[in-house]
Amino acid sequence: MFCLLGGSLFNAKISALGCYAPPRVLTNFDLEKMVDTSNEWILERTGICERHIAAPEMATSDMAVEAARIALERRGIEATDLNAIIVCTVTPDMLFPSTACLVQDRLGAKGVWGFDLVAACCSFLYGLTTAAHLVSAGAHDKVLVVGSDTMSRIIDYTDRSTCILFGDGAGAMLVERAENGEQGFIGFMNEVDGSGGDCLKMPAGGSRMPATCETVENRLHYVKQEGQQVFKYAVRKMYEMCRDLLAKHGLTPDDVSVMIPHQANRRIISAVAERLGVPCDRVVINIHRYGNTTSATIPLATRDAIEGGKLKKGDLVLFAAVGAGYTVGASLWRWNI
Ligand SMILES: CC(C)(COP(=O)(O)OP(=O)(O)OC[C@H]1O[C@@H](n2cnc3c(N)ncnc32)[C@H](O)[C@@H]1OP(=O)(O)O)[C@@H](O)C(=O)NCCC(=O)NCCS
Repeated sequence: MFCLLGGSLFNAKISALGCYAPPRVLTNFDLEKMVDTSNEWILERTGICERHIAAPEMATSDMAVEAARIALERRGIEATDLNAIIVCTVTPDMLFPSTACLVQDRLGAKGVWGFDLVAACCSFLYGLTTAAHLVSAGAHDKVLVVGSDTMSRIIDYTDRSTCILFGDGAGAMLVERAENGEQGFIGFMNEVDGSGGDCLKMPAGGSRMPATCETVENRLHYVKQEGQQVFKYAVRKMYEMCRDLLAKHGLTPDDVSVMIPHQANRRIISAVAERLGVPCDRVVINIHRYGNTTSATIPLATRDAIEGGKLKKGDLVLFAAVGAGYTVGASLWRWNI
């Protein structure tokens, strides 16, 4: 046995990636017909051109299964080879059973355990970090992390301040034990700050405010957001988290080959990258195509980075996100695919 990660037995790496975006596209021009907005306003204030919307019969587990199957196929393994499935989502098919159970069943992953992880736009990063620790502790060989969100089901399409921002999608990454001295997971920093809970939330449908005719009439089962407050917090905390994580590992922004941030607003991403000093050609932005898909932004952006030739084997990747909660997270990986 040897020690790699401050007490860890093994190193963990990301060994496969799969993504799914539903085929239907909702453009800014479509939204112009639904609410009082314009393509120019949306583009200028957010960077979004279009987002994908799931068909009515499709739920979060269905998109998760599509993404998971691609990741498993790319790695050439069966679902039964997995040890655990972590489904990261704020839009589970239902409150229980967990979406992880539904995905496990649909994949035929007999004998595998799993759970849902709820950390809004940080869910996927928290899932990756959790998986990396399960693997590096030697508890598991292979953990599938799936981020899947059907945001269109909790968005109020009469509220122009939120309905322009979100889209649906899913992405999966397989985290497994690295071999022969390969480096994968390097480190992470996560933080939650519940004092910001009121700034971004879905008020009704939980134990605090169960569903009633009144909650439905008052549109309380939709996302409510204080946009400007979330914006300012996101810029400050994402920057601080990335800065501190790099410093903790004796790295500088110059060492980062590719920064893959959560895609909530192009202006948030640009402001963070500029403060950090990571040049824009090393920052992945695909928000124009998908909007904010919550738990799926990071895998979708990673796929686009690979396909665009921006992310290659051996690169140092910095993932970062801020989400409702507030939740904040960043992690560093040596890319292995
Ligand atoms: C939501 C967001 C795009 C709004 O942009 P903004 O520049 O802050 O805009 P404001 O909320 O200050 O609104 C400015 C004006 O535009 C209007 N406006 C809001 N949405 C609009 C839309 N879709 N189309 C046209 N006008 C709009 C507002 O009503 C306001 O009008 P007023 O000045 O007459 O009152 C921005 O705050 C944001 O992206 N916040 C962070 C969101 C986020 O990251 N959420 C997820 C976190 S994971």
